[in-house]
Amino acid sequence: MRTGNWVMLYLPDDYIQRLGDFLQLHLDEPIPRTLKPFAEAITDISEGLKKKNKRSEFIRRIYLDQKVFRDAYLLYYGSINFPKIHIPLAEIQKSDFFNQKKNLRVLDAGSGTGSMLLGLAYWLKNETTLTAELTASDYASSSLDTLSAFYKALALPYPLRTQILNLNHAVPSENKFDLITAGNVLNELEPDAESHILPWLDAALAQDGLVIWIEPALMDLSRRLLTFRDRMLKEGWFLYSPCFTSNPCPALTEKTDWCHHDVPWQRPEFIRVLDGMTGHIRQSLKFTYIVMGKRDIHLSDVTIGNRDFLSTVRVVSERFEEKGRIRVFGCNDRGRCAYSMNKRDKSDDNSAFRKIERYDVVQLAETEEKSNYIGIGKNTKVHIVG
Ligand SMILES: C[S@@+](CC[C@H](N)C(=O)[O-])C[C@H]1O[C@@H](n2cnc3c(N)ncnc32)[C@H](O)[C@@H]1O
Repeated sequence: MRTGNWVMLYLPDDYIQRLGDFLQLHLDEPIPRTLKPFAEAITDISEGLKKKNKRSEFIRRIYLDQKVFRDAYLLYYGSINFPKIHIPLAEIQKSDFFNQKKNLRVLDAGSGTGSMLLGLAYWLKNETTLTAELTASDYASSSLDTLSAFYKALALPYPLRTQILNLNHAVPSENKFDLITAGNVLNELEPDAESHILPWLDAALAQDGLVIWIEPALMDLSRRLLTFRDRMLKEGWFLYSPCFTSNPCPALTEKTDWCHHDVPWQRPEFIRVLDGMTGHIRQSLKFTYIVMGKRDIHLSDVTIGNRDFLSTVRVVSERFEEKGRIRVFGCNDRGRCAYSMNKRDKSDDNSAFRKIERYDVVQLAETEEKSNYIGIGKNTKVHIVG
């Protein structure tokens, strides 16, 4: 299903059915009384991870070692995180990455109860004819055990193995993977874990492989991933998506900026009920992601056919409908700039500007240079390309 320019994300019905069976819950017609212990654990996890004075102790105690937290994570955060990986996967699918592989070797780092890996496995099953070998890894064996048991119940066609891997002290090994995913784990690592991760990643990823990092859209957590992006680029890695610049991330210039996607989704009824019980609002899915590799291939090479990071922008804000004008922020080699159109200047050429959504890729021609923004005039040609 499409909403605006983006495909709406969703949790497959059969996944919801099997998740309910696994946790012994009626998720199609959720009963608030049975969800209460889950809601309490979700609140504890949320506070443990968000409150600055509790956070490092909560992570150090390995919160997913407690069954009540593991089940709550699988039910709630697992369901919210599952569809997020479909956005970078769809961008990778625009290249010949999947076509060139017969058997995809995947490693998920910091798997927890497996949302990234499960989201990926469902996507592979629906979108490709590939065979795949999946490896889930974490430093906590308890969540890997839960994931293995749940994975069996899902009857997916790909073999899954598990591996203990501590990313804080990861050492290079011989294993080569085509795709490495790491979701919501970077922010739980020691402050300079990145120094260990880079040589490990270099050894673990095949020469033509890609790595997908996803982090929550919270300022500090998102900024850590964006800082890591800059470091990877500096150390010779290449960015595939989402950025339309390989310059240092412009969102890091101001201490209070960050950058994230925000995608509509079909919020399942049980998530709506849990949101009501916990005071969360998950009406859309917000997250920061990067896709990087060792080869210099960029999304624009395969979608647009060239790499013009001056007149093609990635929209990095919502569309602001203001009195008399429409504004968005876009990012490319020019930095993070405001693009603004007076409503009276609407024309056939610029009509697409009125439909722009966050993270759209937009080609612009004949823009108007202004002192502190880029003007979209009557003659500006606006073309949403993805
Ligand atoms: C917030 S959960 C994310 C789980 C899953 N990837 C997702 O996106 O929903 C963070 C996971 O990272 C794992 N983790 C934390 N520190 C780690 C480390 N040093 N090495 C490996 N895994 C780690 C935790 O055990 C937990 O399973």
